[in-house]
Amino acid sequence: MKQYIIKGGKPLRGSVTIGGAKNSALGILVASVMTNEPVIVENLPDIGDVQVLLNAIREIGAIVEQIDEHTVRINASLVGDVCMDYDFIRKIRGSYYFIGAMLGKRRKATVALPGGCQIGTRPIDQHIKGFEALGAKISIEHGNVEAVTDKLVGSHIYLDCISVGATINIMMAACMAEGKTIIENPAKEPHIVDVANFLNSMGADIKGAGTDTIRIRGVESLHGTTYSIIPDQIEAGTYMMAAAATGGDVLIQNVIPKHLDVISAKLIEIGVTVEEYPDAVRVIANKKLRHTNVKTFPYPGFPTDMQPQFAALLSLSEGTSMVTETVFEDRLKYTSELCRMGAKIKVEGTTAFITGVDGLESAAVCAPDLRAGAALVIAALAADGYTTIDQIEYIERGYEGVCEKIRNLGGVMEKIDIDDNSDIQRFKLRASNQ
Ligand code: EPZ
Repeated sequence: MKQYIIKGGKPLRGSVTIGGAKNSALGILVASVMTNEPVIVENLPDIGDVQVLLNAIREIGAIVEQIDEHTVRINASLVGDVCMDYDFIRKIRGSYYFIGAMLGKRRKATVALPGGCQIGTRPIDQHIKGFEALGAKISIEHGNVEAVTDKLVGSHIYLDCISVGATINIMMAACMAEGKTIIENPAKEPHIVDVANFLNSMGADIKGAGTDTIRIRGVESLHGTTYSIIPDQIEAGTYMMAAAATGGDVLIQNVIPKHLDVISAKLIEIGVTVEEYPDAVRVIANKKLRHTNVKTFPYPGFPTDMQPQFAALLSLSEGTSMVTETVFEDRLKYTSELCRMGAKIKVEGTTAFITGVDGLESAAVCAPDLRAGAALVIAALAADGYTTIDQIEYIERGYEGVCEKIRNLGGVMEKIDIDDNSDIQRFKLRASNQ
């Protein structure tokens, strides 16, 4: 079984290049099946979730050619009716985007209901509300959502809660509905805008993505396109936190600084220096960090997907910080793993009270989910000694080449096979003189 082994205590220095946004890629890849013409998607991150979704797209009959590690060509002209069973949705939650895409293209889709996960129940009632408003008949039987309609008609939809998934799913169906659709209270994340821009590059007519109101005028059909995905805001933020936690000096390249505004602001608040360039940010941490308080909110608020990483950093900040999770109801469980590394964190409801410590301790820990796993990598890089992290497949679902990127920044980190004890010894031997 594979795990990461990290010898912490070294400041990260140098530059790292950020890949394409995972949460754009999942929506864009599914939307690419809405046309019968070839679609080329560039700047795809080479991560687990993308590979799983590409296989799902192949399994429904599309031709997927991997042009290079970050570019695919998709031809969905042979895709018939879609029935994604629970096995698909368990592997990749984003499969539920096929409901919106196939309702738009074929007026019919059957997709297994996604379950909850480590961070909450994650219902899809708002997705269903939107599809029904557009005229689809939805039936939920034996754990499957079946959506069917003779035609989709534009509607005025008010989302009861801000939902990235519901916004993307409804946008895809609405762009092929007759007439006009207005989506009120949509999510405004950078990846919402990216998916809308992708659909528009296929001939859709979507205005206002990224604002409080999205206006869509339905079209008859969508055509092929070539599209490049935006840089990943969360991957960039994660490396910013790693630079700060190790007292490093890192240039994070290929980013859109505007998307990182709130992350930069919180880092500056605790005493980190952040320099902005046209497509890069530089993070310099050369003094003891101060405490602060943070609440997660939908964009442009502090991203829930950055909450665990920031908590790991605040574990090393002087004083007591409060981290409040408002988006998911159960996204603080990972703090127990940080406590095993010497962090002083007390969780009450949806708030973590973090008392900064002088240093974290290496330990054997286990990644409970993607972003909590990233937080453990950050903690391990800051802690003296050897830390091992299990269940790294969670981390590799969303971060491309993390070992290599960390090593290129001077970090001491490898992926080893724990069933091969010599792997561990060889790593420790190499690491002993670094
Ligand atoms: C997307 O999940 C992201 N995943 C998540 O990133 C991210 O944390 C989340 O948006 C919030 O930004 C992808 O894009 C693949 P939501 P999604 O619908 O769409 C409630 C990561 O680490 N809700 O915005 O599932 C829901 O329970 C992952 O990359 C309803 O109640 O999130 C949650 O409390 C983790 N009913 C809140 O809204 C609905 O119909 C936000 O969920 C839909 C959502």
